Amino acid sequence: MKDENFLKANNARSFWHPMTSPADSHKSPPAIITGGEGVRIRDIDGHEVVDAVGGLWNVNLGYSCQPIKDAIAAQLDRLPYYSTFRGTSNDAVIELAEELRAFFAPDGLTRAFFTSGGSDSVETALRLARQYHKIRGEAGRVKFLSLKKGYHGTHFGGASVNGNANFRTMYEPLLPGCHHVSAPYTYRNPFNESDPARLAQLCLAALEDEIAFQGAGTIAAFIMEPILGAGGVIPPHPSFMPGVAAICRKNGILLIADEVITAFGRTGAWTGSRLWGVQPDFACTAKAITNAYFPFGALMIGEAVAEVFEKDETGKAAIGHGYTYSGHPVGAAAALACLAETRRLKVNENAAARGTELHQGLLALQTRHAVIGDVRGGHGLMCALELVADRASKKPADKAVPGKVQAVAYQAGAMVRVSGPNIILSPPLVLSSADVGVILSALDAGLSEVG
Ligand SMILES: Cc1ncc(COP(=O)(O)O)c(C=O)c1O
Repeated sequence: MKDENFLKANNARSFWHPMTSPADSHKSPPAIITGGEGVRIRDIDGHEVVDAVGGLWNVNLGYSCQPIKDAIAAQLDRLPYYSTFRGTSNDAVIELAEELRAFFAPDGLTRAFFTSGGSDSVETALRLARQYHKIRGEAGRVKFLSLKKGYHGTHFGGASVNGNANFRTMYEPLLPGCHHVSAPYTYRNPFNESDPARLAQLCLAALEDEIAFQGAGTIAAFIMEPILGAGGVIPPHPSFMPGVAAICRKNGILLIADEVITAFGRTGAWTGSRLWGVQPDFACTAKAITNAYFPFGALMIGEAVAEVFEKDETGKAAIGHGYTYSGHPVGAAAALACLAETRRLKVNENAAARGTELHQGLLALQTRHAVIGDVRGGHGLMCALELVADRASKKPADKAVPGKVQAVAYQAGAMVRVSGPNIILSPPLVLSSADVGVILSALDAGLSEVG
């Protein structure tokens, strides 16, 4: 590693950070993270904090997962790369596909298409959804529906179904034929409905209305996160996703579950679809599939869709899509070890228990800090605080406020994430109760500062 002076002098000079204005990076240079152990990260000044962001929703098992590191090293020694394009395969990816098939069997997902990350998995789902309809002779089904406030990565397809203007406006025109319906966001919604069950019904009715307006025969798929993540951790009422699934089925529309955050235990269930008792046609996964130690993803495919491709006699089922790193043997080896550790440690159970403690603690903070307008969570280790200037009017907090909370919380012992007016918490799933306490007291310090 270069010395500290070199790193600080060149911080943000020669590369642009994602989701950041280059000028902002110059004004307030990013923290330089140099080490990680367990659920803690350490910066260049030796300051150590609990990582309440969990990398970026992906370091579920923490920073010291030796079996994954060993698997990566062993695979690099044996076969560092070979393509899985037509004609070749590798042992690690074959084994992984069988393990994933078993893991996702309760979700009805039995085939995998490998990718290099979440945006790739979403892109693959959108493309295969259109192809599925073409194979079946419904070539007119090309549109996509999605939720406002949803996040589906940054490729053109994913950005087109994204429901947040920040990721869209500067890149328009996006893909035609993508339409958005209201998310069941209880704190703020166009129906002024504060009852989650009634709101779910209103949103479902709006979805049916949009389908009728567009024409069901023009729609290829509906894509949604089982719990909206980057949009501010918005869990729907339990009736919502099953309602979406029923509407999709009735109208011949495929359901794509974007499980890039929710798969592998984060919600307390093994998958977000399973949390709500839904079997989607596709599930997009990435992130925690390798505990972030290798960029990798998998689109999981439902049995009925798989049969259409595999039994095709029209010649339309050849897949004209794939990535150089689809099924990368090192990624596959990392994912195999990660899946084994994920199951052995039953991280879903810890996510549920620690998630309840974190959520309760955040609700307690809300009683003392007027800046907290809404506390969201209650499903594993994904929580958010929405900050407001005034609780009665729900006027969002000044733009600088969440950043100030974050900065003070960091000094007080926890890295938290800011997304618009929200403070988002997505710590590793191997968190202890004591770590939950550290996060809460660091937030308390941050919130006191802005109070
Ligand atoms: C739900 C969801 N889908 C897709 C993505 C995109 O994944 P990636 O950044 O790995 O491309 C993300 C990233 O946060 C996500 O949260």
